[in-house]
Amino acid sequence: MLRLGVNIDHVATLRNARGGIHPCPVRAALIAQEAGAHSITAHLREDRRHIKDIDIERLNNEVPLPLNLEMAATDEMLAIALKIKPHAVCLVPEKRAELTTEGGLDVAAHEVTLKPYIKKIQDNGSRVSLFIDANKKQVEAAKKCGARAIELHTGTYAENPSPDNLDAIAQAAKYAKSMGLEVHAGHGLNFENTGNIAAIPEIIELNIGHFLIGESIFTGLKPAIIQMLDIMNKARDSL
Ligand code: PXP
Repeated sequence: MLRLGVNIDHVATLRNARGGIHPCPVRAALIAQEAGAHSITAHLREDRRHIKDIDIERLNNEVPLPLNLEMAATDEMLAIALKIKPHAVCLVPEKRAELTTEGGLDVAAHEVTLKPYIKKIQDNGSRVSLFIDANKKQVEAAKKCGARAIELHTGTYAENPSPDNLDAIAQAAKYAKSMGLEVHAGHGLNFENTGNIAAIPEIIELNIGHFLIGESIFTGLKPAIIQMLDIMNKARDSL
């Protein structure tokens, strides 16, 4: 089965543009649940540009779907993850000036610090995934660090959906699964490019945000999610 995690960061982006309480990310998460999404993803960035601490607490307490907390591997975020104890934590690289997460986490370069960091979170009951580029070196490093899952960065493929870029994701997914890692994918996915990623059988979770929230302006959030789930299920059924 292929799960869909809906990233609701940009509901908060819109809310913060006016500094009020509308549109509410918790309401969006509850609609995502009604539409059939399997989890909610939210990225608590160091600069709190969209999701804020109170959003994470409310998403965790008021939304029945499992929460996947995206965060950088900092001491501040570790304390929050240990306190909130979300279903899952996805570790991502973070640069203050970037518009979105550019590239995967260089797990291979930070194995020594990441291993105990991941252990603390997983011992506390949250599954850890590492957001990495689709290559063997990073998959091996993720395994060595003890993470239960990886999320393959699909941004390069989304920008240029060439057979080579798709194959890199498929190969990394196969390799990671053979090592016993749970394989997820996400970034830049939309109605056009999701089918090919969903047809990679080793991938069991997609995390999709910006496109779905943007599309919801035109069709509503629930229909946008239902259409995405339909694309994912059709790709899976065709295997
Ligand atoms: N997965 C991770 C780890 C991300 O950082 C993001 C972007 O916040 C996404 C998935 C979703 O990407 P998009 O918003 O482009 O769908």
